[in-house]
Amino acid sequence: MERLQEFSDEPLLKSSLWETSPVDCPPESSKFINAVVGLVPRPAETPESLLAKLQALEREFGRAPKQQLNEPRPLDLDLIAFQGQRRATAGLILPHPRAHLRRFVLQPLAEIAPELTLPGQELAVSQLLVRLASGESIRRIRLVAAAGKGNRQTMNLTKVTAETIRAMKGRERIAALTAYDFAMARLLDEAGIPLILVGDSLGMVVLGYADTTFVTMDEMEHHVRAVARSQPRALLGADLPYHSYQTVEGAVANARRLVAAGAEVVKAEGGRAIASQVRAIIAAGIPFLGHLGMLPQSVREEGGYHVKGKSESEHQALLADAEALVAAGAFAIILELVTPPVAREITEKIPIPTIGIGSGPHCDGGILVTPDLLGTSPDYIPRHAKPKAMFAEQMKSVILDWKETIGREQ
Ligand code: KIV
Repeated sequence: MERLQEFSDEPLLKSSLWETSPVDCPPESSKFINAVVGLVPRPAETPESLLAKLQALEREFGRAPKQQLNEPRPLDLDLIAFQGQRRATAGLILPHPRAHLRRFVLQPLAEIAPELTLPGQELAVSQLLVRLASGESIRRIRLVAAAGKGNRQTMNLTKVTAETIRAMKGRERIAALTAYDFAMARLLDEAGIPLILVGDSLGMVVLGYADTTFVTMDEMEHHVRAVARSQPRALLGADLPYHSYQTVEGAVANARRLVAAGAEVVKAEGGRAIASQVRAIIAAGIPFLGHLGMLPQSVREEGGYHVKGKSESEHQALLADAEALVAAGAFAIILELVTPPVAREITEKIPIPTIGIGSGPHCDGGILVTPDLLGTSPDYIPRHAKPKAMFAEQMKSVILDWKETIGREQ
């Protein structure tokens, strides 16, 4: 891939490397390694001149003139598309005539240009990929995958830090979501979500508990490790679970455990009541994400999930708690089920971002429990979540369809 950089003055966009099974190839062909590279051509470049350079590079890498269709070759550089142009000459067809049909093109292409619509297609690359019926097997070779930090930087996708999130206030809305496993974390990261939280909502949406108070440190560590294996570009946060931060020493020790598991920032519920814990966590070098409003870990004491900020005393308490978290050094605060006017006032008064959940439209960003957004939460979807899809139903229907085929086709 490095050699392709010679054809452009801008950094290349590089996909992961994908190992794919041969398609329409002579028998006994071995697997291929595929990748897609996005290259900004120099002003005088034409598709034909670029193709000539690609072919020269193929020859340099030992490619001999073709004997047989789709025979094994040391290097095969195809021009998939060139600035929306179309061609149909003997030497070049643009866009590549089978690009939209091949998983080994669409999968890596979706990593670097998911929203690209190839000329002649109605659907964007990521949509084509979802609809693809082909049975090609494909495997990301993770050691050199896009998650590698070097590649992210080449794509101008530098690692998100607590400071990045703090600096988004007033500039860009912060979209945060939860993840509890490797696959979902990878997906959220590829969708460009800048803050991924291993929330203790884990208890309800994954582990089958009645509320978050049953979640243990061991369980949090296990899921943080799984999510961290995705090496996200996103900032990775984790919840300190119930009763894990009652003392200053306990808070720091448990925050360190979550960081050792792969978290980059930790979150705990409360304001003034936990200010000394927050200061100690930050003094230990761990950025802290606050959580005010309805505090799920207090659900049993409070007898349910109630909106906060309706009374003047709650309003004042929320403001004082937000200010205490700012003074202690939190980099952002989640506001859960806070009345929209109070959420707005806090957002306007404090210098760090507020990230709302069920708290109206005036926060600096929003967070949701991902299964609530996708309609896969097992028992309950809160009103504020407004699922964008009901994937649980679609999944059941796919499972039923498959069940019907058993014994009838392979
Ligand atoms: O546990 C959780 O998922 C949370 C929400 C605010 C997202 O804390």
